[in-house]
Amino acid sequence: MGSSLQSAAQYGTTAKIFHWMIVALLAVQYPVGWLMPDIHRDMQPGAPMALHISIGIVILALIVARLVWRLTHPVAPDGSLPRWQQLSSEATHWLLYVLVLATTLTGWLFASFRGWSISFFNIMTLPMLAGASRPAIKVIDGWHQALEWALLIVVVAHIASVLVHRFVYRDRVLQRMLPG
Ligand code: HEM
Ligand code: HEM
Repeated sequence: MGSSLQSAAQYGTTAKIFHWMIVALLAVQYPVGWLMPDIHRDMQPGAPMALHISIGIVILALIVARLVWRLTHPVAPDGSLPRWQQLSSEATHWLLYVLVLATTLTGWLFASFRGWSISFFNIMTLPMLAGASRPAIKVIDGWHQALEWALLIVVVAHIASVLVHRFVYRDRVLQRMLPG
């Protein structure tokens, strides 16, 4: 092995654990986000919002760790796939990383500009990215929602193509992300 990074043919255990942990947390995060009470001007966040933010911070930490892992442990696309599928799946995967990162960061900025003090799982007070600012709320308002929907759309497309591989092409793409 040289000093340059060699692409592995398969995802390792770490990559699989990162993948499925983030899937599980997003499956909780969306319902919490939609079900928690709407925010009104000068309102202090309640327990559901604190939970949403705490889970969101865990997702942010995981996606950063996962991205670093991915950059240092490259995995080649399935070589038996046509070139256009190798390229489009790679593009979708990078887009998923970017959208998860952007969704969590805009959420954190939104909470920061509100001037909230949030307890991270009742362990500690969450540090904020910026001070309270009404004009900044106006700017960031809408970004978190737009990104959360963009992420959902790309996730649905991602899952749909995995299912097409599983049930139409009947190849081993899904197997690549399963244990073992
Ligand atoms: C990828 C992770 C995340 C997802 C999928 C997500 C999803 C959502 C959803 C579905 C809503 C409800 C908005 C609506 O009615 O459409 C919401 C609102 C909100 N989220 Fe997140 N969120 C994430 C991460 C975060 C993080 C990390 C924070 C803060 C640190 C945060 C802070 C907020 C706040 C303050 C709101 C209420 C403001 C608003 O309605 O725009 N979120 N989020
Ligand atoms: C819920 C949100 C999801 C997100 C954010 C997500 C994200 C990702 C990302 C970023 C990768 C690329 C991994 C890398 O190369 O570093 C990936 C690969 C993969 N995901 Fe997901 N995923 C999600 C849900 C799912 C679900 C539900 C399934 C199964 C039905 C699935 C099956 C796969 C498979 C099989 C691969 C490997 C594809 C290949 O071999 O190129 N994912 N996912």
